[in-house]
Amino acid sequence: MSAIKHLNKMKFTKTGPRREAIIKKASDKMTPESSFYKSNRIAQALHPAYQDLVISKMVMEDEVTCSYYLEPDKEAGCEKMAYFQAGQYLCVELTIDGHHFNRPYSISSSPRQAKEEGFYRLSIALMKGFIAPDYIRENWKVGTKVRVSAPLGNFTYNRLRDGKKILALIGGNGVTPFVSMAHAIADGDIDADMLMLYGNKDLKSALFRKELQQLAEGCERLKIIDVLEDEEIEGGEHGLITTQLIKKYRTDKDTSLFVCGPQAMYDYLNKELPKLKIPQKYLRLEIYGQLNEPFRLKEYPKGQKDKVYTLKVRQGEVTYEIRCPAGTSLVNAIEQSGIRIPVHCRSGYCGFCHSRLISGEIFTPGFLEHRRAADHTYGYIHPCCSFPLSDLEIEIPLYKN
Ligand code: FES
Repeated sequence: MSAIKHLNKMKFTKTGPRREAIIKKASDKMTPESSFYKSNRIAQALHPAYQDLVISKMVMEDEVTCSYYLEPDKEAGCEKMAYFQAGQYLCVELTIDGHHFNRPYSISSSPRQAKEEGFYRLSIALMKGFIAPDYIRENWKVGTKVRVSAPLGNFTYNRLRDGKKILALIGGNGVTPFVSMAHAIADGDIDADMLMLYGNKDLKSALFRKELQQLAEGCERLKIIDVLEDEEIEGGEHGLITTQLIKKYRTDKDTSLFVCGPQAMYDYLNKELPKLKIPQKYLRLEIYGQLNEPFRLKEYPKGQKDKVYTLKVRQGEVTYEIRCPAGTSLVNAIEQSGIRIPVHCRSGYCGFCHSRLISGEIFTPGFLEHRRAADHTYGYIHPCCSFPLSDLEIEIPLYKN
């Protein structure tokens, strides 16, 4: 404080003119490249626009889930992968029948494995009948080159905001970000205790159960409680993850709740969690990719299900006219028509798809509503979680690669 008191404030009034004089004197040819500065090089390494990787190993974790190990593709000029925080995801770029898509997948390996062993692991459920999993199952092999985004997402532990303990509510293959977090805790890279309420039908369908068990055996900060619908086991819970269970295991108020699982789990928790009056900063929900079939939601307006609307899409100087069924998100309809749009989280969080609604009406589920007040005032929407309720006209951002 005293140092500030004795500063000559008048000195700062001359900073502007002094800079202007230096700029005027400089030669026109001196244009420093942005990569010249160390801070820019660090920013570029941490947040690359994209990363070119190659599949080095594949492991089937169960009947449908395959782990793909991705390493830098040196031939494509990628020397090092970006550092990430446990809980983040990568957006994978896919070109299917000439159309460009991307899909977010949580990283199931640890930040330390990326740094020291040089790989990310993406564990993807390859269910049949879905466009991206079908494509990945048929086309990804060892040696396949894959372009992904920088690590993204805020489903990460932050001691400044989170409690000193984590209660993880996990449904089925929503376990992937928690595997990464469990590794980071065991490695000493996250300073927190984590109790995992791991919901599955039975023990044998619990993905990564063995890996989690091994981590928990070597680290007293980790604990797993199996919550099994069809099986009763010693030390576990029988049934579903309920508010009663949350109350039972959240014994310390300084505990953040991290949730990742299927849609039904969010539907339940969105209704029930407010009753527990847990401070908002301690509630961390990872929405698992794109919402499909909005008709299943109670808040979805009646009589819309079978309608198909016209969607006018302005992008820069071009206007497209496409069809969009009521149950299809605007982003899905846009991508399926071959138009490229910046998209990452597909769940209303990241803001990459931020677009202007020129006319028409949309439905956005309450739990995916993360727009700011100004967006509502000036008519901006997130097409990744908007569904048409009438013919629409929207203006989308340009896609830059
Ligand atoms: S893609 Fe993230 S908000 Fe739409």
